[in-house]
Amino acid sequence: MSEHDHDHEHDEEPTEAEARAEAERLVRKEIALSQIRQYGDPVLRMRAGEVEVFDDELVRITERMFQLMRDADGIGLAATQVGILRRFVVCTLDGEDYVLVNPVVSPVGEGTEVDEEGCLSLGAVRVPVERATRVRVEAKDVQGASQSLELKDMAARVIQHELDHLDGVLLVDRTDAESRREALSLLRPRLVLTS
Ligand code: NI
Repeated sequence: MSEHDHDHEHDEEPTEAEARAEAERLVRKEIALSQIRQYGDPVLRMRAGEVEVFDDELVRITERMFQLMRDADGIGLAATQVGILRRFVVCTLDGEDYVLVNPVVSPVGEGTEVDEEGCLSLGAVRVPVERATRVRVEAKDVQGASQSLELKDMAARVIQHELDHLDGVLLVDRTDAESRREALSLLRPRLVLTS
């Protein structure tokens, strides 16, 4: 899932060092996004299988995914989005980093809320999506230990979004018809121009 654009309000012109740091940040973001599967890639539509082996390789991949997620200004990234069809995600929930392996998410109560979401695999698309406001998450951590979380609001939204990726579901499947049309018109021209 992608972060909202930050509001930068500077009274003064950025210094040369600040301008250079910002330019480097944008390059890192471009490089990260080029390594994340983008809309139109069939992998994004596939269902991922359970993780059965908790080894150093899993640790290494999740560390790499955290780096990509941060460089791309994201708050969640599913294995599917880096072409690995296994059920694990990395995310930052309420300021804390989590690796959630084989996550099972169930709503707590009936509450839902509609809010805009973006996705690191969907470019500039932002669409309204209805999600449960409270969820319980049962998952393994990267070592295979059980973890149980109760999440609400933004954190609940992030994990529901990432779980969708593991099932091949994207924001455009979850939004209303008009928002879907607008989103697809944003996504399609790129495919045409690059063909
Ligand atoms: Ni996403």
